[in-house]
Amino acid sequence: MVIRPIRLRDARALERELISNRSWLRKWEATNPHGPMSFDTRASIRSLQNNARLGHGLAFAIEFDGEFAGQLNVSSITYGSLGSATIGYWVSERFAGKGVTPTAVALATDFCFSQAGLHRMEICIRPENEPSLRVVEKLGFRYEGLRRRYIHINGDWRDHFCFALVAEELSAGVLRRWLDDQVPPQNAVIPAADRAAALTAVRLSSGTV
Ligand SMILES: CC(C)(COP(=O)(O)OP(=O)(O)OC[C@H]1O[C@@H](n2cnc3c(N)ncnc32)[C@H](O)[C@@H]1OP(=O)(O)O)[C@@H](O)C(=O)NCCC(=O)NCCS
Repeated sequence: MVIRPIRLRDARALERELISNRSWLRKWEATNPHGPMSFDTRASIRSLQNNARLGHGLAFAIEFDGEFAGQLNVSSITYGSLGSATIGYWVSERFAGKGVTPTAVALATDFCFSQAGLHRMEICIRPENEPSLRVVEKLGFRYEGLRRRYIHINGDWRDHFCFALVAEELSAGVLRRWLDDQVPPQNAVIPAADRAAALTAVRLSSGTV
């Protein structure tokens, strides 16, 4: 698999994957709290590219066996004394379970630490998203805490678990550490109290308590 900058000619493949993976992605998709989201893939790629030009983000296409498999976006880049950014990702259902996303996250984080001058990478995940929690567990992102109603996802403000890595805790990079089986097993462990608090919020919002 490879990650590479997304380009305008990905628009058609992106649209095809978003449409055919509607039910796979909807539950985890960021939404606009002030109205409906645009489904114009060319406009969304242009906006990602503009962000990249301004130094606010990096937008990657994920390819598997030469096919467009998903997206990885580095957003909220802050340079200077923070030196931090956030990663978001998805792959189409037919590419799930092949280790594509952890590999993409490791490559992007290593790039940001070694080439883009960043020092900290963050990933925030809804408590119910077990496959995504496995991604940070595999790579040893450290659990940092529960953020209440943090991101607008699938039509409402949702709690998120926050995980991060800083460059100083890696000697040879995220990918190398994972491939060498050197990931500290406890890093992504979520304290029982936070799990319970998040679960109660999920049940309340779904009306089951
Ligand atoms: C979360 C996601 C990005 C993981 O990507 P991936 O490339 O499948 O990652 P992995 O191959 O490492 O698999 C992670 C876990 O997904 C689960 N999984 C595997 N195949 C699966 C499948 N066909 N369907 C659902 N989950 C599956 C397994 O628990 C796996 O962990 P394991 O390797 O220990 O068995 C992907 O499931 C996805 O795009 N989901 C929809 C969008 C989303 O949730 N984005 C992230 C928002 S934070």
